Amino acid sequence: MKIEILGTGCPKCRKLTELVTETVNEMAIAAEIVKVDRINDIMNYGVMITPALVVDGKVVVAGKLPSKDEIRKWLDQGEDKKRIVREGYARVAKESGSCCCGPSSSCCGGGSAKDISKKIGYSDKDLSVVPEGANLGLGCGNPLALASLKAGETVLDLGSGAGLDCFLAADRVGNGGRVIGVDMTPEMIQKATENAKKSGYKNVELRLGDIEKLPVEDNSIDVIISNCVINLSPDKESVFKEAFRVLKPGGRVLLSDIVLLKELPQAVKQSPDAYVGCVSGAILKDEYLRLMKIAGFAEVKVVEETAAGIEHMTDTLDDNAGLITSAKISGVKPAK
Ligand SMILES: C[S@@+](CC[C@H](N)C(=O)[O-])C[C@H]1O[C@@H](n2cnc3c(N)ncnc32)[C@H](O)[C@@H]1O
Repeated sequence: MKIEILGTGCPKCRKLTELVTETVNEMAIAAEIVKVDRINDIMNYGVMITPALVVDGKVVVAGKLPSKDEIRKWLDQGEDKKRIVREGYARVAKESGSCCCGPSSSCCGGGSAKDISKKIGYSDKDLSVVPEGANLGLGCGNPLALASLKAGETVLDLGSGAGLDCFLAADRVGNGGRVIGVDMTPEMIQKATENAKKSGYKNVELRLGDIEKLPVEDNSIDVIISNCVINLSPDKESVFKEAFRVLKPGGRVLLSDIVLLKELPQAVKQSPDAYVGCVSGAILKDEYLRLMKIAGFAEVKVVEETAAGIEHMTDTLDDNAGLITSAKISGVKPAK
């Protein structure tokens, strides 16, 4: 989450910074707090009276000092989405039901996790070597297909679920390499950890954490992969910045994700089911690429784009024609 405090240094502006910092600490949320004090910059937000508060690009108050309760409510909106996502995927992990990218029982449009995964680009061989229970049919593409992993590399999987891509990556990087999976849903981490244990994967480590604030060291990763996860984050800007931070210079990122081709209807945007189902948290493709570039990535491009295998996700759309697509997007952290 990005929080901007607009103010020219007046006592109320300083008080707002204090209140926001305290609230962020109390809520223990991943938030970047930025002070904007140049009048021209402040006016770019359309704000004429300070102090003002901007949360994830939206001005939530201007010209008055809000209470901590109000601040908490504004900051909670992103957290609320994450809570819904966490609850949804905890259910999927516990029930181990195959359900493509979302826990609503109608989302799969029929078909097993294996069928879904084959449709989105996994081979029979891939699916036969992973531990049973690692593939929940939750992806929207196969990020490994184009990742060209090499023996000895360190791979990070953002939103690793039950571990499907971690295990496939682990086979490719071998014993000299390492795979770290990060997921914010404890039930998913538990499931993936059990899967790793039962199949004897020694080069896979699962970490509970938020991809908006990665529990990973700076400059330590060769390749980042992710499958149908970043659309679920309310703060994609932080996700890309964090991905950039943890990659080694010259490291690469290969993301499989849902992006929008056109804005969604309002009713879909507001539907919690469509959010958990990887539809309404998605952003326009160009905006996605722009955020990656802002984070510092170079050579950002869409490598592949397909509607195959994501038809079920459009169940929530009355007229789904050409609104969403599954894209494989790549980028690199420039070598210094
Ligand atoms: C659609 S599933 C995909 C799982 C896995 N990548 C796969 O292909 O099987 C989304 C996963 O992302 C996780 N997730 C969503 N938002 C996250 C966040 N902000 N930080 C960490 N994990 C997140 C969820 O807990 C869930 O396990």
